[in-house]
Parts: sequence; structure tokens; C-alpha cells
Amino acid sequence: MSRIIIVSNRLPVTAQRTNQGFVFTQSTGGLATGLASIHAMQETIWLGWPGVLTEQPDEKTAITDALLPHRMYPVFMNEEAYAQYYEGFCNSVLWPLFHYFPHPAGCNHSQWQHYQTVNERFADAVCQRLQPGDQVWIQDYQLLLLPRLLRQRFPELTIGFFLHIPFPPPDVFRALTGHRALLEGLLGADLLAFQTTEYTDNFLATVRRILKLDTEAGHVFLPSRVVDVTAIPMGIDYEKFAAYAHSPAIIDQAAQLRRQLYSAQVILSADRLDYTKGILQRLTAFDLLLTDQPSLIGTVTLVLLVSPSRAELTPYRLLKEQIDEAVDRINQLYHRPGWTPVRYRYLTVDLAQMAVLYSLADVALVTPFRDGMNLIAKEYVAARRNGTGVLILSEMAGAAHELTDALIINPYDVRGMANAMAQGLRMPLSEQQLRMSRMQQIISNHDINRWATCFNQQLQQVASQRKTVKKRSLVATGWSLARPRPVGELH
Ligand code: G6P
Repeated sequence: MSRIIIVSNRLPVTAQRTNQGFVFTQSTGGLATGLASIHAMQETIWLGWPGVLTEQPDEKTAITDALLPHRMYPVFMNEEAYAQYYEGFCNSVLWPLFHYFPHPAGCNHSQWQHYQTVNERFADAVCQRLQPGDQVWIQDYQLLLLPRLLRQRFPELTIGFFLHIPFPPPDVFRALTGHRALLEGLLGADLLAFQTTEYTDNFLATVRRILKLDTEAGHVFLPSRVVDVTAIPMGIDYEKFAAYAHSPAIIDQAAQLRRQLYSAQVILSADRLDYTKGILQRLTAFDLLLTDQPSLIGTVTLVLLVSPSRAELTPYRLLKEQIDEAVDRINQLYHRPGWTPVRYRYLTVDLAQMAVLYSLADVALVTPFRDGMNLIAKEYVAARRNGTGVLILSEMAGAAHELTDALIINPYDVRGMANAMAQGLRMPLSEQQLRMSRMQQIISNHDINRWATCFNQQLQQVASQRKTVKKRSLVATGWSLARPRPVGELH
């Protein structure tokens, strides 16, 4: 197999300055966790931002040297790029809009310009590392322009793109500054893959509406080539989480934690700090549950883990304050000697510590307003040792398409969420095991290796067709069914 260059905005490890130099911790988020398993197993190199801002040559060298043995290559950003590209266009414009949140006042020109410049910088970084036969796998919304930038420099390069977050419907997408350029950027790839068919359909509809291109059965027809568009739902490293579930150390720690909570049952909520996740609504639903069923007071604890993320941005900072207040209010209202209703931690934990929480939780709450996939839901299912446990899952998460044996809820309906918690807490063990085993079967079959294999096979197929078509012309291959129309500079 040829070498794969993974390119993502953030590397799977984050560098932090300490008195002893840089230390590296695991980055948060599904992209980093999921692809780190692929990177560990395959012949890949990974290009991305190491999580610190520095312009000092000695610091850059120290980070570069430390990452080299791990086949990672840093792409550095300065403070202005961080503010305008990362905080600005990526996370104040694209992130909310791709999650169907109302578009803020619009982006300023500088944010859009920096988005273009940083994508160019990533293109330069790929070019520096590119060897004959390499293929490039680009990840996520921060790098929407990169496929085309690479195609312009290397027309024969095999380029795949995977979007980890939702893709919105055409009318929402249209509100974006640079919407045409963003679509054209993506169409530089040979293969564009999304988490669900809903997002694939949104993308194809957007391409037809905005670029007036022909599409048919998951193909976009460009004047001189065809782009494949498909859904490849991302999986997890199932074996790793299943193994954690049987580790005596994890089981012991979970038992110890349960004793400390003085609670018969535990509900888990674990996410990055993000307004798309519906964390406040979960707290409201828990409050309702305790009001409705006072017998649960003193017997059920909500373990609330929030991992710090984008905390300098106003909506994230406000959300953090609101979560702090809601937790204080609930804890003051229901607190009993020796028992605290919400055990709240605001910190990043590693996978083994997550496995302890999964092992501990009788019920897991995964209730985003909108989520590309949500790998926490899948990890919880994989990590349930005895096949017990109840997953409460938002119908707006990509994972709900696969995990239909979860208790599926509407994240805006807090009453429905409280009812689902009550149902989960009293669900008979036999029903828990039946539901859990069916979900385990699905996610063990569609794990991260299967995801990577599917992605790779489709990419090879479309790339080799592109090369054949170049030799024989589009008409001879039967791709003439739809009439490709010249659009702008697309090629
Ligand atoms: C989500 C995105 C990733 C991102 C992660 C963490 O999972 O899909 O692209 O890396 O969040 O966000 P951050 O802004 O810290 O990279």
C-alpha cells in the first residue's frame, strides 16, 4: 500500500510549555482519537498544528524534533492566524453554520483571507513532504480549500477528503462568505466522504444549486474528471475499548469511584465544552428527573465531565459560566449529607480514564443538538463489559443512524430526556443486554479499520478511474451519461 499523508488542522497530540521544555498530551475530539489508531497501525505521516503558538526558531525545532519519531510534522501558526483563521473563520463562522446554528453577523474579510492563507500554508507543508506514490487524506472543515490547492499543483495526486462534522443544507451553506470557493476547494479531491447520507445529500444538492453542476448517484461531473461523494460513517478502535473493559485496573478504579459517589446508580455526560452538545439541557433534564421522582434523590449521581475547548471564544466562555451556575444550583437544591447530585469536572482525561467512566456509568447521555457522528456514544457501547448499560442518544447525532437500539431522544425536548433517564435507570438487565449486544455487533463490524479500508478502497478506485479516463476520454468510459459543463476554473 502506498504511503498516506494525513492532514488535519490539529495533530493528535498537543504540545504544552513547561519548565522542563515541551510536554505532549493527547488532543481532544473524535478526529484525533479515531485517526490516532490508524496512524499507529499504518504507514502514514501526519501533518497538523501542534497546539502552541510560537515564532521562536528554537521552540519550533524542539517541537519538530520531538514529533519526528512519531511520524508527525508540525504546521505552525502565529497569533494573528490563530485569531483570524482558527478562532475566526473556522470556529466562529464554519463551525456554527455547519451545525445548523444561525449565522452570526457574518465574517470579516480578514478572517476569510487568513483562512485562505493558512490553507495555502498547509498546501506548502504537504508539498515539502510529498513523495512519488503518496496519497493525501485531508480532514475536516478547517481545510476545505486544500484539495483544490493540491490538485492545482499536482494534477495526478490521489486526494481524499473526510468531513467529520455535519454538512448543512444548501440554503444554510449559501450564507457563507466564500461559499463558491469553498465548494470548488472541496471538489479538488477525488473522493469526498461524509459521516451520513443526509450530509452527502446536502452536499450534492448544494453543488447542484450553487455551482450548477451535474451530479448522479454520488458522482459530481467536472469537465475533465469525476468526484465521488459518499457516506463512510466513522468507527472507533473497538478492540481497544473492549480490552479496557476487561482490564482489572479499570474495573477496580470504577468500583472505587462508585464507592466514593455513595450512589446506587450513575449517569454519565462527557463532552468537549461546546454549545452544539446540549450540555445545559441535560442538566435541566436531570433537575426535572429529581423533581419528578424524589425517590431518586440520594441514589443517582450525574457525573459531568466537560473537556476544555476553544475556551477563549465568547460563546464557549459563556457556556462554561452557565454550566457552572446550573451545577451549583442543582447541587444546592438536592444536596444530602455525603451525597452530591452532580459530580462535575472541567478537565481533559485520557482514554484509560474515559474507560473508567464508561465502566462506571449505568446510563450515558449523548444528546447533541447536532453532531457529525459522536464517537463517545460508540466508545461507551464498546466499553460495557457485561453488555449492560443504557445509551440515551440524540436523533441529531450521526451515530443515531447506526445505534438504533439506544433510547433515541430529541435534544430540545428536556421532558422527553428526563423520561428517557427514568426509563434507562429502571430498564431490566435482560433488555439492556439485548440492546447493548446488538449495538456492540454493529460497531465492532464497522470499526475504525473498516472505515479506513472503505475510504482507501474507494479512493483507489476513483483515482485509477481518473487516470484511465484521462487516457481514453470521459465519453468512452460511460461517464458521459451526465453532460459535464465547464464551470469556472474547475478541472
Ligand atoms: C471536532 C472537530 C475536529 C477538532 C475537534 C477539537 O471533533 O471535528 O476537527 O479538532 O473538534 O476541536 P479543536 O478546535 O480543539 O481542534
